[in-house]
Amino acid sequence: MLAGKRLLLIIGGGIAAYKALDLIRQARRAGATVTPALTRAAEEFVTPLSASALAAEKVYRDLFDLTDEAEMGHIELSRSADLVVVAPATADLMGKMAAGLANDLASTLLMATDTPVMIAPAMNVRMWEHPATQRNLAILRGDGVTVIGPDAGEMACGEFGPGRLSAPEAILAAIEAHFAEGPLTGRHVLVTSGPTHEPIDPVRYIANRSSGAQGTAIAAALRDLGARVSFVTGPADVAPPSGVNVHRVETADQMLHAVEAALPADAAVFAAAVADWRVVDAARSKIKKDGSGALPSLSFAENPDILATVSQGTARPSLVVGFAAETDDVIAHATAKRARKGCDWILANDVSPSTGIMGGSENAVTLISEAGAEEWPRMGKEAVAARLAARIAEALA
Ligand code: C5P
Repeated sequence: MLAGKRLLLIIGGGIAAYKALDLIRQARRAGATVTPALTRAAEEFVTPLSASALAAEKVYRDLFDLTDEAEMGHIELSRSADLVVVAPATADLMGKMAAGLANDLASTLLMATDTPVMIAPAMNVRMWEHPATQRNLAILRGDGVTVIGPDAGEMACGEFGPGRLSAPEAILAAIEAHFAEGPLTGRHVLVTSGPTHEPIDPVRYIANRSSGAQGTAIAAALRDLGARVSFVTGPADVAPPSGVNVHRVETADQMLHAVEAALPADAAVFAAAVADWRVVDAARSKIKKDGSGALPSLSFAENPDILATVSQGTARPSLVVGFAAETDDVIAHATAKRARKGCDWILANDVSPSTGIMGGSENAVTLISEAGAEEWPRMGKEAVAARLAARIAEALA
């Protein structure tokens, strides 16, 4: 899969650095050449000798070495690869990248390169959630950096949450996806997926039964055709696909912001089941029964319509696709929805409980476009996704 591809792997200093060694092994097995570069901190966790032995390549180190410069200068080194991968990307490295600092080998390589950059962050959950890291993340995404993970789980420091380095297999899948050639190579496609959660108080929320399966399958199918995919997902049951840029959100408001930050795109598919309403002034502490039998009353405000906002906005992708989950008069409602929202295509489906579609593995859709309604046979959600991705590739060709 990666035959002939040259990777420059920058290993940052974190406990997850040992997994970078496994990544070297797996990438080489897939046919890539891997040149490792270690930060000074990385050498506290893995030795240059292990990286060099596994890569069967010279390892570049932070210590200034005149012979290195004579053999290959840092500018040339940064450009000799087809892809620069930073794993683990520490909070410090991300901060340097976002700020444009170049005060050691890794940051200088990252500043000097004209090659695409992929980072796999790993850090303590608090550091990941810190506003500074999130700000840096947004800057890096805006600069076109692809971000893999981090995963959520138990961490070496004993805390639990997002911050774990993605598995080497997942990073490798993302690298392979980056090089995947297909009709959508060079195209950027945005996909929304999953439900949204609208808080009532810190422990309760309003949600819907969307599993995120259809949106996930669409993102994977677009990736398989070579697209760079931005995947904005609410709290879904299914895990996001590997090899796509994942933006996790909870509420409709957050989803709109993440979508706007991910634009521009060549095409956008809005498969999320966004809550129509949110609770006004969600309680900051848990609403309690007071024993009097009094019932709480909630008041609602309408959520932004993300599909309509993007369809009618200035950064409109040239192809915008929405879904219409209906329980009656499916075609008529979906046709009206296409006009009302201003999108190009609507995939209409009947989600009456008897169909078993919502939360199930199959879907039966009708594609509504300017040309009219085209009924697709009932098929698996992956097959619907593959067909839609192929149609998108055709439309953008
Ligand atoms: O109006 P309705 O919810 O039926 O529209 C469904 C389509 O609009 C889906 O593509 C869904 O992702 C999108 N949508 C949205 N933002 C909303 C509501 C729906 O993007 N607030």
